[in-house]
Amino acid sequence: MNSVLEKKNRSDILKICGGRPLKGEVVVQGAKNSLPKIMVASLLTKAPCILKNVAPIKDVEIIRELISALGGKVQNIDSTSIVMETPKMSLVPAKRLEDFSGQSRIPILLCGPLLARLGEAIVPSLGGCQIGTRPVDFHLSALRSLGAKITETPYGYHLKAKKLYGNKIHLDYPSVGATEQVLLASVLAEGVTELSNAANEPEIIELIAVLQKMGANISVDLDRVINIRGVSELKGFEHSAMTDRLEVASWACAAIVTNGKIFVKHATQLDMMTFLNKFRQIGGEFDVKDDGIFFWRKSKDLKSLALETGVHPGFMTDWQQAFVVALTQADGVSVVHETVYENRLGYVSTLNHMGAKIQLYQECLGSHFCRFGQRNYLHSAVIVGPTQLKSAAIHIPDLRGGFSYVIAALAAEGISTIQNIQLIYRGYGNFIEKLVHLGADILE
Ligand code: EPZ
Repeated sequence: MNSVLEKKNRSDILKICGGRPLKGEVVVQGAKNSLPKIMVASLLTKAPCILKNVAPIKDVEIIRELISALGGKVQNIDSTSIVMETPKMSLVPAKRLEDFSGQSRIPILLCGPLLARLGEAIVPSLGGCQIGTRPVDFHLSALRSLGAKITETPYGYHLKAKKLYGNKIHLDYPSVGATEQVLLASVLAEGVTELSNAANEPEIIELIAVLQKMGANISVDLDRVINIRGVSELKGFEHSAMTDRLEVASWACAAIVTNGKIFVKHATQLDMMTFLNKFRQIGGEFDVKDDGIFFWRKSKDLKSLALETGVHPGFMTDWQQAFVVALTQADGVSVVHETVYENRLGYVSTLNHMGAKIQLYQECLGSHFCRFGQRNYLHSAVIVGPTQLKSAAIHIPDLRGGFSYVIAALAAEGISTIQNIQLIYRGYGNFIEKLVHLGADILE
């Protein structure tokens, strides 16, 4: 590894000299929003479970450590495959639990497996990106519906249930996490659980596929209803995780913002359809191959558009940040209505500091249903472009906003200094190596 990379992997600061088009190939591996949940599913059985296409990201490391803390073993088979086995399990002591508090939202998903195997669960208070209040009320009310007794503690939640029983559960909003919570908690419950208004993102369907491999009986019906018929035990699985469609979109936006051309190996069209339509609408071009997708800018000028994020199959909220950087380079006025999180546009202030012209509004600037209208949340943006971005000293607030700053710095004139890049490693494995490989000018 050359000196730039060695230094970068140690420091939490990245210096980028902008202005170079990114050209070449990057390999994208397993999805950050799928891998950790599949790892949690391995706790539902005593049998060994093999997971392939594992990305070198922090969110995987956190669950690896949690499985070990619970008494399980996670071993590498090769650089991208692991085997997980938890024949015996015990609760994580509160002191040790503190090590996990605030790091990620995944630990809340341990409730189901722990209750199924121990009749008790202690889970740390949550972390994750500060992009809204991110409550867990849907999770807790679903677990109570299945029979869990829950008390809140200074370090998180303490749950008890001799057995969980299937029930009818309705989500007020198709929450990804709450849907995963119900799946993981009801597969070993007694009886049938009917979950309505469930999320159905590709990562959810993948978790259902893994649970089915383990022996679960789950059907995904029309209009967001999922039926889970509880079984008495589950076996191990062997599974190769889906590619991270969120990372793919980030590289696609980097290609058009820097006016380069990037081949994203293992990118799959089926998971990206809505993104690809919008990408082409602003003037991006793509070519789908058997083993990946080429992304580049079709014409000199990018076109502005109106965009609304939404649950699947809508435009993912996690695609929004990198896409907004592309809209700062588009001719005319674009409008973005963020309908999933109330505070997912906070990162644009730094883009404005770099020369972008983005104004935020509390009004719903779009036709989609939104829970945040007239509630003082700045969740709509108007972007005037194109603007010449200029370098800046940047501090990263969250994962996706952080990578949008990297993309902006790649296009900006001059040298940008980006701090707190560890947050990016939560979802973008080896991203500095990838940038260097694509020709980015990364300074010592
Ligand atoms: C998952 O978060 C993803 N994270 C997020 O990706 C993604 O943006 C989100 O789903 C939506 O697709 C992981 O999978 C680890 P939600 P999650 O529950 O499950 C509200 C990234 O950058 N809500 O679908 O936490 C919530 O406040 C991250 O990769 C409740 O009100 O999201 C939000 O407004 C960011 N009560 C909406 O639902 C609850 O109990 C969607 O949240 C739960 C959620």
